[in-house]
Amino acid sequence: MSLKVVILAAGKGTRMKSAMPKVLHRVAHKPMVEHVIDAAASLGASGTVLVIGHGADQVRATVSRQVDYVEQTEQLGTGHAVQQAMPMLDADDTVLVAYGDVPLTKPETLGKLVDDVSASNLALLTVVMDEPHGYGRIVRDTGGKVLGIVEQKDATGEQLKINEVNTGILAAKASVLGELLGKIDNNNVQQEYYLTDIFELAVGQGMTVTTHNPDYEWETAGVNSRLQLAELERIYQRNQADDLMTAGVTLRDPNRIDIRGKLTVGQDSIIDVNCIFEGVVNIAENVTIGSNCLISNATIEAGTVIKANTVIEDSIVGENCTIGPFARLRPGAELAEDAHIGNFVEIKKSTIAKGSKVNHLSYVGDSTVGAGVNIGAGTITCNYDGANKHQTVIEDGVFIGSCTQLVAPVVIGENAVVGAGSTITKAVDANQLAFTRAAVKTVDNWPRPVKKQKSEK
Ligand code: UD1
Ligand code: CA
Repeated sequence: MSLKVVILAAGKGTRMKSAMPKVLHRVAHKPMVEHVIDAAASLGASGTVLVIGHGADQVRATVSRQVDYVEQTEQLGTGHAVQQAMPMLDADDTVLVAYGDVPLTKPETLGKLVDDVSASNLALLTVVMDEPHGYGRIVRDTGGKVLGIVEQKDATGEQLKINEVNTGILAAKASVLGELLGKIDNNNVQQEYYLTDIFELAVGQGMTVTTHNPDYEWETAGVNSRLQLAELERIYQRNQADDLMTAGVTLRDPNRIDIRGKLTVGQDSIIDVNCIFEGVVNIAENVTIGSNCLISNATIEAGTVIKANTVIEDSIVGENCTIGPFARLRPGAELAEDAHIGNFVEIKKSTIAKGSKVNHLSYVGDSTVGAGVNIGAGTITCNYDGANKHQTVIEDGVFIGSCTQLVAPVVIGENAVVGAGSTITKAVDANQLAFTRAAVKTVDNWPRPVKKQKSEK
């Protein structure tokens, strides 16, 4: 058995009020349609067919997954849409039909449908709703056997009372699907080719329909507006937050964390409110993260404390470091254990070895900083000459006085000391003291300026 997934994504999404096709709008920074593609992939699907129409070129250009595309140039109905995908399917395939604007269906739920499919059985995902208005209703006989689906607009008054509705998600053999789709027409109120019509036809031919319900109603919630998109975003985020807490992580408020990628966190780590995690972030045990941090594609080792308002991008932070508040680690920052990076410090493409400190108002770029180094407040590595970047090397045990400029390329040897306010333009050897100083001049009895009175203005 080979599983193929057909994802309908041709609709315009008028209510999004967007130049971008609906299925490209994002949940957790991933286009909705990619959520569906990834769920399909996790079921072991051997192929995914995306039926595209509105904004087809944008969809092709944006979707980063390997899928086959078919274009439905005119949206003549869901049945017509699936028909477009038939040439991409083998008769023997099991086909799962899903929707590019229904991003949160769990793979386990989809898997239940797939498992039910046979040459004589179709599987359908349904939900029972208090307010079923607008949805196709599931019509059953008195014994509970599914007879078919009737759309809202085609339903009788009696049928409209049914509150079990069609989610649209179904699974069937490709051969069965192809045969049944060949028989549907658009003889209905909307003059569309309804995918839902295949169920009545199947039952008429002696086939059966089994149904499943999702564990959660949000699994089948579709997005038609930015409001609904925001609702699903919150649900998605809260689910991830709950998973973290279940795994032994303390979240100061599980409603105020955003994970836009893949975050793993070790036990007894604590995350304060309003932190955003992007891309792949790995955080070890006993890490504390203060409020309002933005952390992208980074590894944070055990015991490290990251204080409020810190930004970390493409960086590696060793064990027991202290970072922030208001620190910025730019791509290529690599800190060894016990490093201290304080407020208003920017580190870029630099390694900082064990126990070194850059505590205040400094820029360290394109540098190799040894162990046990102390870099005073306001120190700048002048790494850019306007055309090229140059390296700064600060060896173990160096002390750099405050407000120093290190004009790269330059090497400060082991245990050297640089006096405060120096501009260092050549190598300093091990154990040397280096400094540059303008002489201090003084003027006695300096007449301080006096503030003008208002009337004199
Ligand atoms: C459909 C179902 C209805 C179900 C509801 C669940 C049919 C006939 N009806 O109704 O039973 O309760 O979904 O939300 O299937 N699409 C295409 N090409 C088309 C038409 C639709 O790609 O020609 C895509 C749309 O972009 C959308 C999805 O299919 O993502 C559903 O289409 P829509 O027109 O919204 O179906 P509903 O009328 O809501
Ligand atoms: Ca719909």
